[in-house]
Amino acid sequence: EKQGFKHFMLKEIYEQPGVVRACLEAYFDGDWTAADAAIDKPPTHLGLPPDLFANLQQIEIVACGTSWHAGLVGKYLLEQLAGVTTTVHYASECRYAPPPIAPNTLIIGVTQSGETADTLAALEMEKKRRSGFDQNPELLPRLLGITNRPESSLGNLVASIIDTHAGIEIGVAATKTFVAQVMAFYALAIDLTYRRQAKSPEQLEQMLVGLRQLPAHMELVLESQERYIEELAHDFAETQDFIFLGRGINFPIALEGALKLKEISYIHAEGYPAGEMKHGPIALLDAKVPVVTIAMPGSVFEKVLSNAQEARARDARLIGVTPMDEQDAADTFDTLIPVPHIDEMLSPILTVIPLQLLAYHIAARRGLDVDQPRNLAKSVTVE
Ligand code: F6R
Repeated sequence: EKQGFKHFMLKEIYEQPGVVRACLEAYFDGDWTAADAAIDKPPTHLGLPPDLFANLQQIEIVACGTSWHAGLVGKYLLEQLAGVTTTVHYASECRYAPPPIAPNTLIIGVTQSGETADTLAALEMEKKRRSGFDQNPELLPRLLGITNRPESSLGNLVASIIDTHAGIEIGVAATKTFVAQVMAFYALAIDLTYRRQAKSPEQLEQMLVGLRQLPAHMELVLESQERYIEELAHDFAETQDFIFLGRGINFPIALEGALKLKEISYIHAEGYPAGEMKHGPIALLDAKVPVVTIAMPGSVFEKVLSNAQEARARDARLIGVTPMDEQDAADTFDTLIPVPHIDEMLSPILTVIPLQLLAYHIAARRGLDVDQPRNLAKSVTVE
């Protein structure tokens, strides 16, 4: 069943290019070009009812854990591409302190399993407190689920679903389902961007071209980096703390890298937006704390590099997930984990892979039960 892989987690990491291909096929018009906008042919086919999006004013996302991180990437895309104000809630917090009821709000529950108790309860609460507004239909619930299991309890609770097509995931640490959730957000954000004409058709076409190139880029990262990261993991036999830094769309990936490491290797790790380090966490740094920084060329590249340099002044070992041929990055980091050049907006799908591999190899090397980490269950069906 593991098809020659030592653990399901590694097998599932390797399945990710195929998952992205499946999502591209399911969500997007394969040969859409900017010219299609003139005949009002949309770039996506999500099959969602138009009333979900009518006069849309804001989006609320509820989720837990890795799905919450996918929600944060989603927020970035929905705000920066489609121009819709988006808030991401921990389901467990939202349940007991829901935001004020606002009109024309799309509520998105993100849950791989479709069975996470807190996420279901937060959505149920929204459904309940928003029903009965027949006098003011703008306040009625509009619920959308993003899940890998449309037949789950989530599927029963919400009328509209984006199916993430990742196939069953056995490793407790979510990998391919995360990538699939992020793909669902690309599709949703592009769908909304098109509906709202928030970007030009040419800009959308460029994004689609980039998305279609992702699987090949992902394969390249897996082929070229896995051995190297396995070797690199040897250096962290005694390491007790890790810091992960990212900014913008890669900030959630820093959080995800830290969560993967915590879950399966039991090493203390924290993810921070790189610019926030100087407001306190930098005091943690010394030669014993490696800092993994995601630095992709784009709107915050130089900023991230200068944040990493601040960590260097504290003797921290600097590991950069960054393109190979960027001299400034090469000068900044002690260790490079190269990824292909890609539009910053699409980069999370690539930058998450080395972080998954790093967590995997550190845990495997420590002889830990990677697929079934202590104290964790695949889906958390109790509060
Ligand atoms: C992390 C992990 C958990 C889940 C969280 C939500 O690797 O697996 O953090 O992401 O429990 O699960 P779902 O997506 O099933 O709601």
